[in-house]
Amino acid sequence: MRNPILAALDVPTADEALRLVQQLAPVSGGFKVGSELFAAAGPDIVRRIRDLGATVFLDLKFHDIPNTVARAVAAAARLDVQMLTVHASGGTEMLKAAEQAARETADQLGQAPPLVLGVTVLTSLDNDALSQVGLEPDVSRQVRRLAQLASQAGLRGLVCSPREVAELRQMLPAAMQLVVPGIRAGAVAGDDQKRTLTPREALALGADWLVIGRPICAARDPRAAAEQILNDLAAGAANR
Ligand code: C5P
Repeated sequence: MRNPILAALDVPTADEALRLVQQLAPVSGGFKVGSELFAAAGPDIVRRIRDLGATVFLDLKFHDIPNTVARAVAAAARLDVQMLTVHASGGTEMLKAAEQAARETADQLGQAPPLVLGVTVLTSLDNDALSQVGLEPDVSRQVRRLAQLASQAGLRGLVCSPREVAELRQMLPAAMQLVVPGIRAGAVAGDDQKRTLTPREALALGADWLVIGRPICAARDPRAAAEQILNDLAAGAANR
């Protein structure tokens, strides 16, 4: 079984991130570096995680003019990340420029191109928030619209919320990689994720990758927490 866990390194320092990578490398499919860690530790943290042989998902959600996004994607590809994010609302030209930059840079370096993932609607936005910024005041319609746009622009993956994965899986090409956060094995005290799925549910609905932060990284024993999730997934796969 391929390991679908992407552990979110939502920590403020390189030392904390590297400690987690060392503990978790044997039990996770990769590591997500987001804005907090990148702003604190810079591209060097990505190089250091790659030097340990782990897969990196660089989640900086680029959204700018096509030329700037293309250059940012090229820089990320030169860091040899395996996945990165752009906002699908940046429009067709920006999305095409991102995908093209990923492919061209990887070709020049003789590497596989990073998977450029489109972010549709942030899960922190509701219908009212969309309407305030002048967008379609229906989150699920807006998600479908942007997913279609990203797919038509040639993107090979999307980040989507647990509430969207089943519907998007049905409407998109089968090869589209769906990366799903908001994964919880059980209740976590003081948690801000409202719509969650268990790891098994998310895979059964069609997710390819599971972004898991606090349930693993904030656990007393992160490695044991990840192992427990993997064991549960293996049991689920055996039952199918
Ligand atoms: O700790 P938790 O498992 O909630 O972490 C989920 C990770 O996925 C965080 O890094 C968060 O920023 C990210 N994320 C999310 N919801 C989205 C997009 C990204 O929770 N819609």
